[in-house]
Amino acid sequence: MFKLIFKQYKAKSSSPDLNDVLNFDDPLRNDRITAHRLNTCHEENIRSIPGLKSSSTWQCYELRDHPGILVIRNPFTERGLRYWIARCLRDYPRPPNIVNLNERLFDETVRSDWWKQLHRCQHKDDFQRTKVAMRWTTFGYHHDWDTKHYDDHMHSPFPEDLSLLCRLFSSTMGYEDFKPEAAIVNYYPVGSSLSGHVDYSEPNQSAPLFSFSFGQSAIFLIGGRSLEETPTALLLQSGDVLIMSGESRLCYHAVPRILKDHKTVNCDLSKEFDDSCGGDLNALDMDLFEHVGNLSFWQPFSDYIVDSRININVRQVLKPGQLLLN
Ligand code: OGA
Ligand code: MN
Repeated sequence: MFKLIFKQYKAKSSSPDLNDVLNFDDPLRNDRITAHRLNTCHEENIRSIPGLKSSSTWQCYELRDHPGILVIRNPFTERGLRYWIARCLRDYPRPPNIVNLNERLFDETVRSDWWKQLHRCQHKDDFQRTKVAMRWTTFGYHHDWDTKHYDDHMHSPFPEDLSLLCRLFSSTMGYEDFKPEAAIVNYYPVGSSLSGHVDYSEPNQSAPLFSFSFGQSAIFLIGGRSLEETPTALLLQSGDVLIMSGESRLCYHAVPRILKDHKTVNCDLSKEFDDSCGGDLNALDMDLFEHVGNLSFWQPFSDYIVDSRININVRQVLKPGQLLLN
């Protein structure tokens, strides 16, 4: 059933049938989700990260048919969204992080600073080719896509800002001891997809997995422990935080389709509550946080997400008390 439904959503018809896709903003969805209570005693911590709305306004849902699948509907401010999008495009794909760009197709300058070199492309075709070639970057423990294993020697530092963000979400969700140790940033040009899989490479499979969506919306399929079970289709929109916890941590999931809506993301940040002053100024790159409010600085990032989605997928690798993998 999983593969059949994946194929139906992936099929290149101009508009997929969204009737069965769970949209958290739709008031008619109520029988499929329940509201999930948050541990709001962490409001102080939330204030310490710029770019997040007050946690008293967060809407968090759990799927009735998939206990452990939680979604927080976009808790980011517009400036916060821009910050994380710019980090994923400009900064995270640089060494020592690993990217997918093939050495036979791209030289070292592009593979070590893709975003900068992308904007040096002289020809439209070259720009487009370079743009859609970027599909993933890994950091912390690097996921080895061939062996599906992590290795003590294949490790780069986990960025402080993303670590703090994940620890904040995990404590707000009641997982006090979560350690963000490995991340994959997936880049999805419209037309791309991620087929059904289970994330079982981590020795620690009881820690939750945190997944952040930015840019264009996606249809996300969440199934059961076997491919026989019929999956549920969800709409993940920019800013949504999906948590795979408990019995859903080891369930099949996939991204069959990226939707292209025409929502403009270039709204005026001056109307937004200025959250740049209250936060912990060391946690984020505050220069970047400031700059994304500048329209000409933001424009190339905005152009990228007009037809792309970005997903940050964060896992704990080690078990509590475990110091080494092998
Ligand atoms: C993954 C994954 C889902 C997404 O990277 O393992 O499942 O929403 N990503 O892109
Ligand atoms: Mn996955």
